Amino acid sequence: MEPPFEIFLTAPPGLEPLLAAEAAAAGFAAPEVVPGGVTVRGGWPDVWRANLDLRGAGRVLVRVAAFRALHLAQLDKRARRVDWAALLPRGGRVKVEAACHASRIYHAGAAAERVLRAVTEATGASAARLDEGAQRILVRIEDDLCTISLDSSGAPLHRRGFKAEVGKAPLRETLAALFLAACGWDGRTPVVDPMCGAGTIPIEAAGIAAGLSPGRARAFAFEGWPSFDPGAWAALQARPPAPRSDAVMWGSDRDAGAVRMAAANAARAGVGERLRLACAAVSDLAPPEGPPGLVLVNPPYGARIGNRRLLFGLYGALGAVLRARFRGWRIGLITADEGLARATGLPFAPPGPPVPHGGLVIRLWQAGPLG
Ligand SMILES: C[S@@+](CC[C@H](N)C(=O)[O-])C[C@H]1O[C@@H](n2cnc3c(N)ncnc32)[C@H](O)[C@@H]1O
Repeated sequence: MEPPFEIFLTAPPGLEPLLAAEAAAAGFAAPEVVPGGVTVRGGWPDVWRANLDLRGAGRVLVRVAAFRALHLAQLDKRARRVDWAALLPRGGRVKVEAACHASRIYHAGAAAERVLRAVTEATGASAARLDEGAQRILVRIEDDLCTISLDSSGAPLHRRGFKAEVGKAPLRETLAALFLAACGWDGRTPVVDPMCGAGTIPIEAAGIAAGLSPGRARAFAFEGWPSFDPGAWAALQARPPAPRSDAVMWGSDRDAGAVRMAAANAARAGVGERLRLACAAVSDLAPPEGPPGLVLVNPPYGARIGNRRLLFGLYGALGAVLRARFRGWRIGLITADEGLARATGLPFAPPGPPVPHGGLVIRLWQAGPLG
């Protein structure tokens, strides 16, 4: 494929503009918000850099074909025109996922099968049943327009590679990064998470403040592609970090096991020095000394852990502590339950868009700076 080509960065519905802003700030060309993500244009080094550097992207997909297809024979013919041998390694394992909407081709399984056949014949690849380790190829047919994309990421990008230990309801790192951005946080002030669990929010914040690439500790699907240039990739990875500030992040949780996990995860992420972790209940929470910053917290919500009635007391206590002790701080609260958010008594603005997460729909509620 001749660059520039289209690169699709996936994002949760509603949060695409935050990812577009991140992509623009990182120098990607022509970011455009579309439902479910952001398109940018570029070449292979941009694909690698998007995977390595963008914190809000769920996956980085490479558009390898877009054409109108009115019937399966046409899809078959056009899928064979793609230069699969130049795109994918010989003899790999591939999984084709297709979705059809408002199109004359309506049988997703048959569409996937046509594309799979084109790929396997051109590359000697075999079909994989499971995602694990297989190259994903995505076929989308919408209003008779078929797009075929390769997933360059492999494992989803929220798997940064250093959160080996998780608690009951971990937040995805990509969402933590997008919610930090939604709060207008720029990496220059402290972040406090008083219910930090395995440490996702403070670890993500510490990485941003330290200017570290989120993908520094993991592998990507594109590393096995013929277009991959190990020397250029090594040079990208060797860029020195560009710290935004010396700000320190604070995490606490009443569960000692969670705090131990957070400490181990932070050490693996190489940000242990930027984190202050403590085992404490929210009732004992006090703001760190120094200038105010952001409290971003993801308390338990009924459907996953705990009992909703008990949770009203917990949210009420959290709100009371923040209102009494966190003058000048901004607050971001992530929850699936509006009633619980209101129980904090915090002066929230209207909430952010609904975001699917772990079978629930969560929203970001923002308040402050508190008076
Ligand atoms: C939804 S989890 C947070 C997950 C975290 N964001 C992560 O990614 O791992 C909620 C956390 O609140 C903690 N928690 C519940 N009640 C608490 C309290 N009264 N004080 C402090 N932490 C509490 C739980 O131990 C749990 O780790």
